[in-house]
Amino acid sequence: MNRRDFLLALGGLGAGATAASAGAALLGRRDVAAGADRAAPTIRLEAREVTWELAPGRTVKAMAYNGRIPGPEIRVHEGERVRVVLANSLSEPTTIHWHGVDVPNAMDGVPGVTQRPVAPGATFAYEFDARPAGTRWYHTHFDEQRQMDLGLAAPLIIEPAEKEPVGYDREVTLVLDDWATGMGKPVPPTDAGTAGGRGKAGGMMSGMMRRDSGMDGMMGGRGMGGMMGGRGMGGMMGRDSEPAHDVMTINGKAYPATEPLRVKKGERVRLRILNASAEHTHVLRLAGHRLTVTHTDGNPLDAGVEVDAVPIAPAERYDVVVTANHPGAWFLHCTQPGHVEAGERMLMVYEGHARATPPAPERGITGLTLWEYGMGRGRAVLPVATGDTRNVVLTLGGGMMGSEVWTINGKQYPDTEPIRCRKGDPLRITLRNNSMEAHPMHLHGQSFRVLSASGVRYEHPLVKDVVDVEAHMGSAVVEAVAHNPGDWLFHCHKPMHMMGGMIALVKVG
Ligand code: C2O
Ligand code: CU
Repeated sequence: MNRRDFLLALGGLGAGATAASAGAALLGRRDVAAGADRAAPTIRLEAREVTWELAPGRTVKAMAYNGRIPGPEIRVHEGERVRVVLANSLSEPTTIHWHGVDVPNAMDGVPGVTQRPVAPGATFAYEFDARPAGTRWYHTHFDEQRQMDLGLAAPLIIEPAEKEPVGYDREVTLVLDDWATGMGKPVPPTDAGTAGGRGKAGGMMSGMMRRDSGMDGMMGGRGMGGMMGGRGMGGMMGRDSEPAHDVMTINGKAYPATEPLRVKKGERVRLRILNASAEHTHVLRLAGHRLTVTHTDGNPLDAGVEVDAVPIAPAERYDVVVTANHPGAWFLHCTQPGHVEAGERMLMVYEGHARATPPAPERGITGLTLWEYGMGRGRAVLPVATGDTRNVVLTLGGGMMGSEVWTINGKQYPDTEPIRCRKGDPLRITLRNNSMEAHPMHLHGQSFRVLSASGVRYEHPLVKDVVDVEAHMGSAVVEAVAHNPGDWLFHCHKPMHMMGGMIALVKVG
């Protein structure tokens, strides 16, 4: 067997993974030179139903790739040909979307748009060049509201061809996820998104809702939506379609089942954090340490930005570097109300401190420096535009009185107006949010620069593929270079909102 020709044997992946990878299954391909040859090794993924133990005594029926949650981490080099054969052993159709990867349109995994759903018992071969480098991921794009929530998501790491301007000794991938098990107390929603994570309601309400102002308790910690006819009313009016998330996991496990991260003093650990949650924004913090943000949705910043905590909307990724300079035992945890109790914490233990008692996680965010888009300077990594700027304005609406109708310019997909542009055009999308919830909007097939958000223009736009548009008249302007021909979804990454209609089609011709 060719050294490059490896298979993802069912469940056998973990064998080679050490504690250093914190449960992430590395495919052990470091001996393959970047782009040395373009023969595509075959990666086999099988989607099937499993029973999964989130924590002792909390076993759920779930869906997994190769029997694990999150699915196996795929690691490839930039430019390398990737071939993944998906075998569908579920009793329902499925597909895979390669989130953040500039795949050819036919490989994008959107049922009814780029491919037919993969039927139960059938297989489908995905093949594409791994581009651009960075923390990407893959997940089901069929009935995501169920299938993704049940576990069909995993990291895809594309290692850059050129050395990165980031110093670190080793790396660990952390996948955050929310679960609706029906066994626990539902966690308060995080409708105000990343703004909410920073203690604001977002948009025009910014600054009116400090979490430390005492209003938090009054409104059940759910932002203004609770008072203003968003979800709060919905609850009262019997909106029961919303799954009640009651368990929060890191790499498929809830504390105390989360795998501790063991470090040596002086080490620099790169964390690739990915929020695979359906509904919840997380705010990650590591007690006793600061986090240096180096990448946004996989794309490098000019320089690292040191913060105390990082709010992460659904589908967003942040790479952060931790310098292990404060020996002891500490919790890496989420500061959102109820998330620690629901399991979202893991230990970081220094060598020689195995018996240390970690301080209890602090929930407050008062006085902390929290990451926001304006803090980073993005690097110019997008292709150069050749055409004229195509300007579109999309107004996000819906969710009124607890409904699950979500709209773009007043229409529900597939009735939303398609956005047409020519290959090479800069595509500038202005987003206005008339609804009571933040929407993490994601573009398939190409990344964009975030030019401004809620009225603040950024001098050095970040490169991302998800932008969290603040609630309550919040806004954002993003600009992609439409370099990838085909029909691409632009949608809210909360599956409930997407399936409720918040999708527009971008047609690049
Ligand atoms: Cu992460 Cu339409 O997808
Ligand atoms: Cu949304």
